[in-house]
Amino acid sequence: MDLNLKNKLAIVTGASRGLGAALCEALAAEGASVVINYRRNPRLAEALARCLETDHAVRALPIRADIACEPDVLAMFDQIDRTLGPADILVNNAAVCPTGPVTETTQQTFNDTLQTNLTGAFLCCREFAKRLIAANRPGRIVNISSQAAFRGSTTGHAPYDASKGALVSLTISLAREFAPHNIHVNAVAPGMIHTEMTDAVLSTNKQKYLDRIPLRRIATPPEIARVVAFLAGSGSDYITGATLDASGGLAMR
Ligand SMILES: NC(=O)c1ccc[n+]([C@@H]2O[C@H](COP(=O)([O-])OP(=O)(O)OC[C@H]3O[C@@H](n4cnc5c(N)ncnc54)[C@H](OP(=O)(O)O)[C@@H]3O)[C@@H](O)[C@H]2O)c1
Repeated sequence: MDLNLKNKLAIVTGASRGLGAALCEALAAEGASVVINYRRNPRLAEALARCLETDHAVRALPIRADIACEPDVLAMFDQIDRTLGPADILVNNAAVCPTGPVTETTQQTFNDTLQTNLTGAFLCCREFAKRLIAANRPGRIVNISSQAAFRGSTTGHAPYDASKGALVSLTISLAREFAPHNIHVNAVAPGMIHTEMTDAVLSTNKQKYLDRIPLRRIATPPEIARVVAFLAGSGSDYITGATLDASGGLAMR
């Protein structure tokens, strides 16, 4: 299926590694240029940009921004306007996932988690949509939520799970508000993906997770990235406000 992503410009947050890097690869493979947002690792982001430009003949621009910080987000969008022009696709992927029982979780940890996973996504959606609406251009937003949005925490990630649940609600509100402007807003709810975020638990407890997943395997970043590319492209022209379950049957919703 041609997703019609050639010559589109996509912004992927938290993209220097893990699922974010796979998202950039999947979108670039379909012909989209990408903004690789990163927070801490310029070398990884630059290496990924060079690979994408060589392998797929697209433009790839790393931009540092802490998406939890409003001035950083504004500066990133200004830089995109100046260098690459208006973006067509935004993927809110950046997230943090602290671990611990609620009784030992500080307010600071709770707030910091929401600040990146929810407020950061909100800020990026706002800046992205503002520009598209002003220019009367269509667009696509894909928010990376989680099966944990619906099932809650089983392993000490209550702030993360709350942020991912709120991201689903935000997706619905934005989808409704932006629909008249032809800006589609959807979410993906992955189950377990093998990345740095899950490396520690999978090294010690992989079987416990496998036993809960009807498909009996952990997702690879590229297979989740293909779901996101579908929502970013023309195969999903009649979908907005949806959260697509990509959890190997863990969530079944
Ligand atoms: N792995 C899973 O099993 C799983 C399951 C369901 C959903 N997800 C979701 O998938 C997405 C990607 O997760 P992942 O597994 O690839 O995690 P990861 O390997 O921990 O990567 C997270 C990325 O987010 C970036 N990031 C964090 N805070 C940021 C901030 N304030 N500003 C900009 N970038 C920031 C990190 O950059 P730095 O390195 O610079 O901090 C990193 O590149 C997340 O939304 C996660 O919730 C993952």
